[in-house]
Amino acid sequence: MPKDLIAQEAQSHHRKQHFMCLRLEAVADALPASIDRQECLLLARDIYPTVKAAHEFEESVLFPHLQRNADARALEDGLERLRFEHWEDEAYAEELSDTLSRIGRGGPVRDAEKISWMLRGFFDGVRRHMAFEAEHLLPMLNPISSGERVAT
Ligand SMILES: [Fe+2]
Repeated sequence: MPKDLIAQEAQSHHRKQHFMCLRLEAVADALPASIDRQECLLLARDIYPTVKAAHEFEESVLFPHLQRNADARALEDGLERLRFEHWEDEAYAEELSDTLSRIGRGGPVRDAEKISWMLRGFFDGVRRHMAFEAEHLLPMLNPISSGERVAT
């Protein structure tokens, strides 16, 4: 896949995840006083597929492309950490999906503070992860604007 298309798709996955984080933040902010149970159900359905699709694209297309076109050894530690964060975020997304689904189906919210803390832990982590990728990986697809040289 040409690198401009890889960049576009990577950014598209980031946009979808940024939007998901905004929705999760709105739910966290609304707890415990007002809960949009329909939105909880929709998020329960969306969060795992959203992060999973992004991770699959990055691990099967973006990371291998960067490894082929840059100093692979210098990259490897960073990519390994990102892969590990993907795995952690997917596990976290599944857990949150169960929690949001329970709330969405009308379950009691006795532990609003804990749920809010879980939601924030997840979207803060996803945002940090994407910020790292945006700062360190995506510019490698566009070496002219980043000032970095990448062999093609
Ligand atoms: Fe990622």
